[in-house]
Amino acid sequence: MITPLSGLAALGAFFLVTLALVVSESSVPERPRSLRLPNDTHPLAYHLHISSDIHRGVLLFSGNATIDVVIRKSTNEIVLHAKNLSDIQITVHQLIDGGSEIVDNLTHTIHRSASFLIIHPIENFQAFEEGQRFRLEILYTANMTQRPAGLYYMDYSDEEGHPAFVAATQSEPTFGRLIFPCYDEPGIKSNFSIKITHGSSHSAISNMPVKEIWSHGDLKTTLFHTTPPMSTYLVAFVISYFESTSETYRGITQSLYAPPASKEKGQSALKNAVRTVAAFEDYFGVSYPLPKLDHVALKKNFGAAMENWGLITYKDTSLLKNISLDIRNPLWDRITQNHEIAHQWFGNLVSPEWWTYTWMNEGFATYFGYVITDLLYPEYKVMETFVAHEADSAYSYNSFFDVRPMSSYVENEKDIMGVFDIISYKRAACVIRMFHHAFRQKVFVRGISHFLEKYRYRAANELNLFDALQTELHEDEYFSQKSWASRIRDIMLSWTHSEWLPILVVTRNYENNSITFSQRSVHSKDELWWIPLNFATAQSPNFEDTQVDIFMPPQSQYSVALADLNMQLSGRDWIIVNKQQTGFYLVHYDTDNLMAIARQLQANHSVIHKVNRAGLFRNLKPQIEHNDIEQVDVVFEMLKYLELEQDILTWNEAADSIDRLSENLVGTASHKLFNEFVCRLVTPIFRRVYVEQNANISLDQGNRILHTACLADLPECLGYTRNLAKEYFINKVNFTTDSEYYGTYDTVLCMGVRYLSDPDFHRVIDVLKAADRGSENYDDMIYALRCTQSHRHLLHYLEVMLGEGSTHLILSEPEAMMYIVYVFKSSSASRPVIWQYIERNYMLICRSPNFVEHFNQIAKFVPRHQRLNVSCSAQTIANHMEAEGIKSSHELIESDSPLVGKKMKITENFQDRFEQQIHNWLLGEVPQSTGRSDALLAASLSASNGSSRPQGILKDATRAVRSVLRTIDMYR
Ligand SMILES: *[C@@H]1O[C@H](CO)[C@@H](O)[C@H](O)[C@H]1NC(C)=O
Ligand SMILES: *[C@@H]1O[C@H](CO)[C@@H](O)[C@H](O)[C@H]1NC(C)=O
Ligand SMILES: *[C@@H]1O[C@H](CO)[C@@H](O)[C@H](O)[C@H]1NC(C)=O
Repeated sequence: MITPLSGLAALGAFFLVTLALVVSESSVPERPRSLRLPNDTHPLAYHLHISSDIHRGVLLFSGNATIDVVIRKSTNEIVLHAKNLSDIQITVHQLIDGGSEIVDNLTHTIHRSASFLIIHPIENFQAFEEGQRFRLEILYTANMTQRPAGLYYMDYSDEEGHPAFVAATQSEPTFGRLIFPCYDEPGIKSNFSIKITHGSSHSAISNMPVKEIWSHGDLKTTLFHTTPPMSTYLVAFVISYFESTSETYRGITQSLYAPPASKEKGQSALKNAVRTVAAFEDYFGVSYPLPKLDHVALKKNFGAAMENWGLITYKDTSLLKNISLDIRNPLWDRITQNHEIAHQWFGNLVSPEWWTYTWMNEGFATYFGYVITDLLYPEYKVMETFVAHEADSAYSYNSFFDVRPMSSYVENEKDIMGVFDIISYKRAACVIRMFHHAFRQKVFVRGISHFLEKYRYRAANELNLFDALQTELHEDEYFSQKSWASRIRDIMLSWTHSEWLPILVVTRNYENNSITFSQRSVHSKDELWWIPLNFATAQSPNFEDTQVDIFMPPQSQYSVALADLNMQLSGRDWIIVNKQQTGFYLVHYDTDNLMAIARQLQANHSVIHKVNRAGLFRNLKPQIEHNDIEQVDVVFEMLKYLELEQDILTWNEAADSIDRLSENLVGTASHKLFNEFVCRLVTPIFRRVYVEQNANISLDQGNRILHTACLADLPECLGYTRNLAKEYFINKVNFTTDSEYYGTYDTVLCMGVRYLSDPDFHRVIDVLKAADRGSENYDDMIYALRCTQSHRHLLHYLEVMLGEGSTHLILSEPEAMMYIVYVFKSSSASRPVIWQYIERNYMLICRSPNFVEHFNQIAKFVPRHQRLNVSCSAQTIANHMEAEGIKSSHELIESDSPLVGKKMKITENFQDRFEQQIHNWLLGEVPQSTGRSDALLAASLSASNGSSRPQGILKDATRAVRSVLRTIDMYR
């Protein structure tokens, strides 16, 4: 380990010039300039002294940032970052070998838009010559806020029965400049000597251990050891009255800090941290470089945790037991903690040269956070959680986020914040996982170890990383033989500089025993990748070895003879590409191969690895969405075996495909048959999870199964959810706080109101009318009631909510219109009702400011058979608006506009192409069951007299909205 060089020690040889000048702020007009710091000057060491009276609730703090800098290129300015700092006074000393020189006549300018503090001469002369060194002594004050950016505070007053305030820092990504003037770029590293003056009732902790504490009056000053070279975004300290418990292992002391009453709740997190640090040291062969690591539980309201070097700050709920809210996975908090511990190497020891490479921090921390958790707790199978949680959203990110390549240059503070997104965390984690497997895990890990060793205490870019892998592959006996082994940069860059995701199409040529691979982007964009391929076949169904067999080069087509792959396959044998889905791409197969796979699933599905079974359905979903299917029969042949499928991962993926098919069949003659077929598939797993509860699957994990089962009108599912929903709404039995239901009660409530009896429905409406508007119960009712399948109920509900004279209108008029659009889009069953509602109420709602825009939106979702009505309504409404003189900035959609029904075209095309085939297939499959199922459904519906015929699907938009929220509330 490198022993960090103290800034003062380094300067010991210099005679310090104490004569100096206090310079004042001038008001030169801002000129536009790059947001990047010039490279002319460089910090050697920081001495930071912060004084805070936060123990008395004082939010103003003062600082003395003394920074030694070297001039690398002669310049007339020294540029640093500073933001929202006041009362700035700067004294500049020149540090001279064996002598002294006075720097005089300097001033400083604040460049607000760049957050720069610029020190320069009053007159225009070159004050700073190459090779010279200066000591900038910068005194300032600033204010804390509650927003976790810079130095922020938390008020603990009511909890412990006395006034209590705590201050902590959040410097990443660009908040260091709110705490002290600094070179606030991740690639600029320096040594930090930190000193905090605080009330005696409090103590201070920082990145490094305490060196010395002295008291003066009712204050104390705590001085910390100097850090090794590190980036400003990792500088951290906490001033608190917290208490700690510690454990020391391999010479590293780890401590958990929490309010005195809760510190015992952190024991298991502390134990985990001790194990995890040791596991990382062993896994990468690189020691944890600091003498200590603290874990602090904070009552903050943003982000789960921050990986500051030696001092990780957490949201208390993810560190302390019993107050954890997140029970989706019992190891969720451990995964978060291990993510932060991974950062101690990935980001802290080796930092990204610039935020372009944020993925090198977040992708590695995300992926290896899981890998190490899996190593320590194999029984929890967290790599499956990785697939379900991280990979799943990485695969679908392009449907709702701005896409960008993993490596993308950003400059301003907002854009820098923006790269802490699903791409840096999840997509990058998937790409890293792909190469971890493709390059055989040991080789990959050795490459990463060498990278960490070579760049420790420094910053690196992606090429540095790729070259480290390159070196390792060259030294590997097996890989060095491969033609691609010298092209690691090209291979990796094809992934870090592409925006989308590849679809690999595998087409077997049954005449000449070859395979043609073709690749294209999920989007029409012209992008090509180096794609690592491996195979399992009917003859050799081994899914364990996940290293690359061959690379598909970045060309749109590539053919290989089976013989060259050492494969023997008959025409009826299947092949599956991308074992265990470790490669981050979608795979489509030709129909014959897919049929062979379906036959295998039906004969014995366990021959195919469960992650690949799940993958088959993940691949299927976008094909269904885009009508990218050759023959629909094969899709149904694949679904057919699900009756026997007990794996939750596979079911979760399959459920999406089933729901999508169901949506496409709404309103057709096949929909009922389809529901019967789905009921047959889903009944066994539904019973095991929800009735017998013996599937080793939590109710929460079964959420999508529940959704699919109720959507298909499985009577047991409808009964189950209806009971819970009635208890909740009418009898106020709050099952939603039951941890078992966390994350699933939206679905339960939505499905539970599908078929309420008239009396029950009206009771719920009465409860709604009486409910407290601010309550969660109220929100839940609003969300759930839109899911009713009864047209009369839905209409009644809309009038209660939005109608003229409604006292329950919680939504402003524009919001009301937005809500209608939302319900309309998310629920095909609602569409006829909403038309009816608009026809009845247009005189009221057309006065809403954005009515025309919203109406035009809705018109896009009108199905074929209703388009004529829509045209008539549009005409009536247009006439009315004209007669009433209601103006709008937009034109009401023309009745013959091609936009009418535009969003239904894909579904309609699907129906035109496939509905007849599906109908025939289903008739062959479920003829005898029709009567039975009808009787059951009738029995289930007997309570709901007068409900209209079930005729549609309400997509659980709540779930979607909440899962998006969850995704963006990501941890650092
Ligand atoms: C400073 O140097 C870094 C690394 O060489 C470079 O990426 C950056 O563009 C330079 N900044 C300026 C403003 O020239
Ligand atoms: C600021 O800190 C430096 C370095 O620790 C110290 O030499 C100097 O005296 C301090 N200045 C003030 C005004 O406290
Ligand atoms: C600084 O300003 C004073 C007058 O204000 C002048 O006499 C002196 O020469 C200037 N020093 C430098 C280094 O320019």
